[in-house]
Amino acid sequence: MAGKIPQTFIDQVVQQTDIVDLINGYVELKPKGREYGACCPFHHEKSPSFTVSPDKQFYHCFGCGAHGTAISFLIEHEGLEFIEAIEQLAARLSLEVPREQGHVETVNKSAQSYELLEQVNQFYQKQLRQHPAAIEYLKKRGINGEIAAAFDIGYAPEGFDTSTKAFPKATPAELEEIGLLSKNDRNHLYDRFRDRIMFPIRDLRGRVIAFGGRTLGDAKAKYINSPETPLFHKSDNLYGLYEARKALGKLSRLIIVEGYMDVVALNQLGFPECVATLGTATTSQHIQRLLRYTPNLLFCFDGDRAGQDAAWKALQQILPVYADNIDIRFAFMPQGEDPDSFIRERGADAFAAFLKEASSLSGYFFQKLGQEVDSNNTEGLAKLASLAKPLIAKIPKTVFRDLMTKELNQRVGTVVSNTGIMREQPPVKARSNDRGPRYTKTRLAIALLLRDPSLASKALDIEQLSQLLGTPGIDLLIEMLEILEQQADLSGVSLLERFRGRPAYEHLIKLLDWDPPDMTNREVSFVDTMRQFEKDIKRAPFDAFIQDNTPEI
Ligand code: GTP
Ligand code: MN
Repeated sequence: MAGKIPQTFIDQVVQQTDIVDLINGYVELKPKGREYGACCPFHHEKSPSFTVSPDKQFYHCFGCGAHGTAISFLIEHEGLEFIEAIEQLAARLSLEVPREQGHVETVNKSAQSYELLEQVNQFYQKQLRQHPAAIEYLKKRGINGEIAAAFDIGYAPEGFDTSTKAFPKATPAELEEIGLLSKNDRNHLYDRFRDRIMFPIRDLRGRVIAFGGRTLGDAKAKYINSPETPLFHKSDNLYGLYEARKALGKLSRLIIVEGYMDVVALNQLGFPECVATLGTATTSQHIQRLLRYTPNLLFCFDGDRAGQDAAWKALQQILPVYADNIDIRFAFMPQGEDPDSFIRERGADAFAAFLKEASSLSGYFFQKLGQEVDSNNTEGLAKLASLAKPLIAKIPKTVFRDLMTKELNQRVGTVVSNTGIMREQPPVKARSNDRGPRYTKTRLAIALLLRDPSLASKALDIEQLSQLLGTPGIDLLIEMLEILEQQADLSGVSLLERFRGRPAYEHLIKLLDWDPPDMTNREVSFVDTMRQFEKDIKRAPFDAFIQDNTPEI
């Protein structure tokens, strides 16, 4: 098994990577003063609020707040793990990743979980082939072999100890951690999925992270999903997204449906651009994830009360991230039907025609609110305005928001809201020198060190500084100086990356992003902060009882 990647190699990769070059491979960066700008790859927008600083080796979006280093970019944008991000950066630099010897115990635990989940997935598929009743069920549902294979549909046999028997090398704790075993009230572990058709759920890179299981009969729980595990979070994963990307590459639209069976049936009958949430409401994370792939989302929910509620909840998640280039539509199935039954009974053309009739976001918005009020009288119109206004106020400042306001005015027959009444969306914060944390000398020293680690040579002795321990942030400053004592040639972002995964990391990111006033001559400022520390040290015995209660550094 592979050992740990040496820290020096990680430093080297981070140091040699140019973030401008890296990000330019994903979005076209245009020079903008000392930085580069582009439309943000993390959210949809028309005017660029994404900037990349070659000096800080850092990106920041003023629109959605995305920020980070080259590694963060690969983690956030490509869905990679830290180690995978390092591997990818190393590959760009044509460096081979060295591994330390004798570190078997450090082998990434999640890598083992992924492997086990894939084995379980294979096992369920094999079981399907051996259980005619399960095959019969799928046939009855109209699922052909090709689509069953494309989605790796399987079968979990009956029995409470199937997986412990089938995977004797895995410990019960491991099987529990990946969501396969459940614990009863006497602490006994048993198989969660029994006698069920199994749908593996994959992450964006195609790794199995969870399962959904449907009963063949009429068990009380029609579907059971894996619980939340270290690898699986319902609120940001969608069934079928990996398969859709795999089938289509670039997605021109995505259809969001409610069930596994809907995704599978629509795929089989010519709509591979389908995804489903995993038995939960659509979350803001879902929406943001979907919008990264396409600005065209079509929600296709059941016409019943539950479907209506689900759509309205989805709409509320969309409003705050609305941008003028996105196109969101809603289609409701006729009563008693879902996309699966509809397309099987009426065919693909009928389904396509049905989708064409989908409501626009604004259409659905006013239709839904219109159902809740009596628009024939003044009170009803006033209520419409009072329901609509706070929702419209959630929309970022866009042409769409103006038009929604206008339409509300027309419907109500008076000007109910102008910008004076309506709460303004806080304007996207312009770049300014006072952005970020409040000034303290510790923060300034850390911020300067992140920009120019060679300043460490001008710092006070660590022993001296440790007399100030207790002052917020001094411990962090000392730790940074200790790292630089070991390795003086570290770059700022390599220094930063040493803290990834710890709470200090976010503080450091903020400080790297911060533009405090006296950064022009870094050395002068740094030496000056050190002088001030020196004064503090002399005063320290007298100040010992005065605690600074600032919670962060
Ligand atoms: P079929 O009856 O197989 O066609 O299912 P469906 O996909 O049409 O399911 P339905 O519309 O009833 O439910 C939509 C989705 O909600 C399912 O795909 C599941 O993700 C989830 N779901 C439905 N029933 C249950 C349940 O009993 N428990 C849980 N946890 N989720 C469920
Ligand atoms: Mn169904």
